[in-house]
Amino acid sequence: MLTPFREIIRDAHRRHYAVGAFNCLSVENVMGAIAAAEELHAPLILQLAEVQFPGAPMELMAPVFLQAARSAKVPVAVHLDHGQSPETCIRAIRAGFNSVMFDGAGLPLEENIAQTRMVARLAHAAGVDVEAELGRVGDTGFGGEGTGDAATADVFTDVGESARFIAETGIDALAIAIGNLHGRYIATPRLNIGRLREIDARNGIPLVLHGGSGTSEEDFKSCIGNGISKINVATAMQLAAMDETCSYIAGNASPNYIDLKNRITEASRRVVAAHIRLFESDGKA
Ligand code: 13P
Repeated sequence: MLTPFREIIRDAHRRHYAVGAFNCLSVENVMGAIAAAEELHAPLILQLAEVQFPGAPMELMAPVFLQAARSAKVPVAVHLDHGQSPETCIRAIRAGFNSVMFDGAGLPLEENIAQTRMVARLAHAAGVDVEAELGRVGDTGFGGEGTGDAATADVFTDVGESARFIAETGIDALAIAIGNLHGRYIATPRLNIGRLREIDARNGIPLVLHGGSGTSEEDFKSCIGNGISKINVATAMQLAAMDETCSYIAGNASPNYIDLKNRITEASRRVVAAHIRLFESDGKA
């Protein structure tokens, strides 16, 4: 069932688990994600980032996400990931997304606060929830390759700034930077769990970990126990689809497209199911 984002993440925050938010670029990704969530009785977030619009246009994907959410047996939110401008957030609200992320993390603090506050006011007036980001999450692009070097301390989310940012913007969830990185790590990162604890202790709202792919099981567990209520996963889904495609083609003298689509759906289901278990959201729907 299509369910408000805030209901889903607040329950996760209260019961100390994280909801998996999976970037879905195709019908196969969406079908696999829903199948995994239903099988494991887990709440789910389907999301799409603005940088992904060229291959998966938002206005084409929104009806797919929304119909999948409405007919699912578990709670599902439909979320815009990394909206790069207030205009994109408004487009997503018009398309029916029930939550939006405005990513002003690259802006000076005052500008990030002003633009995020404006998006939050507009979104809340339409009954839509808002995630925003403070600090700089490292970036190699989803599916790209990173160094695995924990980002240097000056890009970590500042505890005092996080309290001010939340109070002045009215957001529903805060994405933080604690050494996490989008894309493919060469070495497993070590997240700054101490900083996460301080941010969580200072603020009462659900926190979001971006760059979920490639994080160690130990770090995931520490995140879940210390206020992270939503974890974003993009690269792992793409890698699973690519691996499945390569092995299907290599192992078949006459590959066919329908079989390939089914295999990608199944690979998507597996990767989402594995993350749901890691995030301890199974059995929570
Ligand atoms: P990964 O590609 O590292 O899984 O990050 C996904 C993400 O954070 C989307 O916002």
